[in-house]
Amino acid sequence: MNHWDPFSWKAKPAKHLPHYANAAHLEEVRNELMLLPPLVVPGEIIRLKSAIAEAGMGKNFILQGGDCAERFIDCNSHAILNKLKILLQMSVIITYGSRRSVVRVGRIAGQYAKPRSNNVEIQDGKEMFSYFGDAVNSFHPDPALREPDANRMQMAYTYSAATLNYIRSLISGGFADLHYPHHWDLYSMDKAKSWPKYQETLSRILDAIDFFESIGGARGEILDKVDFFTSHEGLLLEYEAALTRFDSDLKIFYSSSAHMLWIGDRTRQLGGAHVEFFRGIANPVGIKIGPSTDPKELVALLRVLNPEKEKGKIVLISRMGRSFVKEKLSPILETVMTSFEPVTWSCDPMHGNMIKTDQNRKTRHFDDILGEIKETFLLHRSMSSCLGGLHFELTGDDVTECLGGAADIKDTDLEQNYETYCDPRLNYTQSMEMAFLISDLVNRRQV
Ligand code: PEP
Ligand code: CO
Repeated sequence: MNHWDPFSWKAKPAKHLPHYANAAHLEEVRNELMLLPPLVVPGEIIRLKSAIAEAGMGKNFILQGGDCAERFIDCNSHAILNKLKILLQMSVIITYGSRRSVVRVGRIAGQYAKPRSNNVEIQDGKEMFSYFGDAVNSFHPDPALREPDANRMQMAYTYSAATLNYIRSLISGGFADLHYPHHWDLYSMDKAKSWPKYQETLSRILDAIDFFESIGGARGEILDKVDFFTSHEGLLLEYEAALTRFDSDLKIFYSSSAHMLWIGDRTRQLGGAHVEFFRGIANPVGIKIGPSTDPKELVALLRVLNPEKEKGKIVLISRMGRSFVKEKLSPILETVMTSFEPVTWSCDPMHGNMIKTDQNRKTRHFDDILGEIKETFLLHRSMSSCLGGLHFELTGDDVTECLGGAADIKDTDLEQNYETYCDPRLNYTQSMEMAFLISDLVNRRQV
């Protein structure tokens, strides 16, 4: 293969990268980022890779989730705690229901850059750049504040570090001890059809935890020391390249900005800048694949990104939309399976199911999200393949961004608490209900 270095992508055509007007300032920021300590280290990355390899074989299950776009203003104890809590609780429910351990991967501590369909937009009669994520520009609709600002990359590093530091402290301090019922705010689910079943499951989970404790304490081993990994879209290549480090013992380059990075559906072109960057790092790499994916090109991409055919290196995250799973994913599955390229399959049931309300709000319906998950499980099973994970946009807060679910959120309810800066997320109750429903599917009990 040709020469690679963390900045070799600069010679390739790039999509969705901001243009910084002040090149000297950009270089200054880049040089400072290059000196900062890594946020994650190779030992953790390798551990995640082997967990992903196991998920590919159906031995465990990847739960990846978090905000569409993290916001700097949410770098506070309450918001971080809620995000961690929802992922931990979902993972406990799925583990209990499916008897498979769950690998938790947050879209957190770095999910600050967004690809957008339109580069510019009009607000209050003024043209300005679209919002590209807090690492690039401000959400505030002011043309000056929408100019890409390289300082925001330093802020992204700082906020990521603060978030990850708090997550690590919470986990080592015993926050993962989930057997206090008052931590499970399930009251909001009492309208769900299956509410009695959920309550029953929850009391069994708490009972099982008590049982383990009483026979000698599985707590230290199992409940207090959960693994938690970080991930984000590796979109902003200036930032990612500046945080790429070389491990001289292992002789690998790795991204130190998160354990896992993914390539978006819009930036996975062969020969493009993003693929060039990703082919050089040792981290596990997600690839989002939408309905436009060409199966043969995808196999060529797998060969570029994983020439050593390492298991656990690639997570293929399909996001076809509920009604296109069969038509679009079948040929891809077939081609990838016959290519013998090792991949772990996941499904993002969010990005193919976007709708707009009459009030021009972007939203998604709970039933479509669940529908895509069911279709995807069914298809994998029918082709003797294994769906090893799911990828959600969700939050632990009580927002009103997605329709449906136990509380049956309607489009007229969306204004109550529509907070996202980008795509709509499942709220706490919707996420919990999703976890109960998924665990049955993971366990193959029903489709
Ligand atoms: C995302 O995950 O926020 C995203 C933009 O997804 P995709 O690349 O699948 O459109
Ligand atoms: Co999104």
